[in-house]
Amino acid sequence: MLIKTIHNWELPEASATPEDVFLNRRQIIQAMGLGAATIGAGALGVSKAFGAPDPTMDLYPAKRNEAYKLDRPVTDEKLNLEYNNFYEFGSSKRVAEAAQALPIRPWEVKIDGLVEKEITIGIDELIRKMGIEERLYRHRCVEAWSMTVPWSGFAFSKLVELAQPKSSAKFIRMETFNNPEVAPGQKPPLLSWGQSLPWPYVEGVTMAEARNDLAFLVTGAYGKPVAKQMGAPLRLALPWKYGFKSIKSIIRFSFTDEQPKSFWEKILGNEYGFYANVNPAVPHPRWSQASERVLGNNKRVPTLLFNGYGEQVAGLYKDLNLPDNVLYR
Ligand code: MTE
Repeated sequence: MLIKTIHNWELPEASATPEDVFLNRRQIIQAMGLGAATIGAGALGVSKAFGAPDPTMDLYPAKRNEAYKLDRPVTDEKLNLEYNNFYEFGSSKRVAEAAQALPIRPWEVKIDGLVEKEITIGIDELIRKMGIEERLYRHRCVEAWSMTVPWSGFAFSKLVELAQPKSSAKFIRMETFNNPEVAPGQKPPLLSWGQSLPWPYVEGVTMAEARNDLAFLVTGAYGKPVAKQMGAPLRLALPWKYGFKSIKSIIRFSFTDEQPKSFWEKILGNEYGFYANVNPAVPHPRWSQASERVLGNNKRVPTLLFNGYGEQVAGLYKDLNLPDNVLYR
C-alpha cells in the first residue's frame, strides 16, 4: 500500500491498523487489481454534481443540536477528507480523488418492502422534507482508529415515519449504488480466495435501532453538503457501532422481516457480525478492541462500551438474549 505524503497528523495505515489486518487487506487489494489511489492537489471537500453547486447548499450550516456533546476535539476536516474507507473506490484510505467520479445528482432514494406504499424520492426533496440539524458524533472504526465528526442530517426515525412500515417489518436493509463504470472497486475481479465481492454494499439495522434517537442519516459534514468520499449524498451514522455499519451513498431502504446479511458479513462472517456494537471487552478475532488511536493526535485511548453511548442504546439489546460475542461483534 502506497502512502505518498505523510503529514504530521497522519498515520500510515500500517500503524493505525494491526499488521495482520493490514496484510489481509493487501491481499484483497491485489485480488481486486487496485493500487492505492492517491489524492492530487485539488480541493476535494466540496460535493459537486459535475461542477454544479449543491442544490441544498442554502441549508448549511445547519443549527447544531446541543444535546450531542463530545469529550474530545472535532477531527480536522482535511484529515477526515483524506482518510476514508470506501471500497467502491479502492481499498486504500486515499480514495478521495477517485470518489469525485461519482455523480450525485440526480439521485433517487427508494423506500420499499414492508411499507404501506413504496416511495421513490429525489434526494433534494427528501432533505428539504426532513429538515437538517448538526450533531457532533464520535466515529469508531473496527480497525481501532477513531475520529469525531460534525455531521449534518436528520434522525433516521423521520425516514421511518415517512415510510409507514407495516407491523411485520423487523429490519431495514440499506443498499449503496452499484456502478462499476465510475467505481473501479466494483469491477468483477475475485478476492484472493476466489470469492467475488458481493456488491452492492449492503447494511442492516433493526427497526428499534433505526428509531433510536442516535441513528442519524447524514447529508452534510463540517457545515456543508457531505463530501463524496464521506458518502454523499446520503449516508448513515450509528456512533455506537463500528464504522462499517454506517453505509455510504445510500439508494435504497427496504423494510423486511428477515435479518439482512451485510457486505462484510458475506465476505468474513466470523469477523463482522450484524450487531457490531462497539465493545472493548470483545476482541475482533484477530486483534484487540480494548483501545483506539484517535486520529489527529495519534494518542491511544481506552475504548468505551457502545463507544460511550450506552445510556442511549444499551436498552435496545437487553431483551435479545444473544451471547455477548454475537451482540457486540
Ligand atoms: N459504505 C460503503 N458503501 N462502502 C464502504 O466501503 N466503508 C465503511 C463505512 N461505510 C464503506 C461504507 C467503513 S469500514 C467505515 S469505517 C466507514 O464507512 C468510514 O467512513 P469515513 O470514510 O467517513 O470515515
